[in-house]
Amino acid sequence: MDKTALVVGSINMDLVVNTDEIPGIGETVLGNSLIQNPGGKGANQGVAISKLGKKVNFLGMVGKDGLGEKAINYMRDAGVNIDYIKKVDVTTGIAIINVDKHGNNNIIVIPGANEKVDREYLEENLCVFKTSDIVIFQLEIPMDTVRCGLEIAKKLGKITILNPAPAAELEDDILKNVDILIPNEHELKRISKMEIDNEESIVTACRLLIEKGVDKVIVTLGENGVFYVDKSQYRLFPSYDVEVVDTTAAGDSFIGGFVSSYIEDKDVEKAIETGQKTAAICIQRMGAQKAMPTKKEVEGFNCEKKKSGKASF
Ligand code: RIB
Repeated sequence: MDKTALVVGSINMDLVVNTDEIPGIGETVLGNSLIQNPGGKGANQGVAISKLGKKVNFLGMVGKDGLGEKAINYMRDAGVNIDYIKKVDVTTGIAIINVDKHGNNNIIVIPGANEKVDREYLEENLCVFKTSDIVIFQLEIPMDTVRCGLEIAKKLGKITILNPAPAAELEDDILKNVDILIPNEHELKRISKMEIDNEESIVTACRLLIEKGVDKVIVTLGENGVFYVDKSQYRLFPSYDVEVVDTTAAGDSFIGGFVSSYIEDKDVEKAIETGQKTAAICIQRMGAQKAMPTKKEVEGFNCEKKKSGKASF
């Protein structure tokens, strides 16, 4: 039978401003364009997995407004099962994103309806957990909901993935129910409360989290690649050498690619490679969900990797 992923997470509408440079504090710059794009870390990951040919259920909330309608229509058209998404009397989540000419960005999220995703809603939708094989969370919904969702998924024997973004501290009762933790270096620093500046510090920080119950940690390091750590081994996967247009949703696309492969055969190295290819294509395009590649595009991706060395920051 086809394997199914469940994403429990945020749905946003992204308002993207393109500028040459990102303004500093107190500075005014002229923008080049303003675009409205479907986003939200949860929705981005759901769309990425679906575009890669896997079944995806989604639990999340939008407002009863035009932005919410547009956001869920986009998810539905991308193949995500939107049947359980709830519409509430709060505005849909919005992200204000500034992208500069180098593809760098900064993001402000106004959670709106995402903040209403609570444990009661998850408990009402237990059937969706039961019919899914792997459950993915991020931190754009309340922490208590994530805690509860991880507990439910774990009790049902599902594989659990947590992308701890945006960065936050994580209690031990969250970590103990996470099978695969996928932070970037900033998020790892926040969770481990350690300085992260080289491979040794990554391994030490990840092993600390492994002692608290996490099985595998995959640290996304942008152009420095991806660092994998489990109890017995660690390894750096260098990144692909591509021209960056927009790094928005780079992490989400990696997770989408990773899950689409891992759900099939639990081969972690193959899944990281698929995640990296998915992200390499995504960052060569503008936008979040609109930048997610299809399965055919990922399979046809052929590009050199950067020379491998030791990761340092
Ligand atoms: O990870 C990228 C996403 O972060 C954007 O789509 C934005 O909505 C914010 O949630």
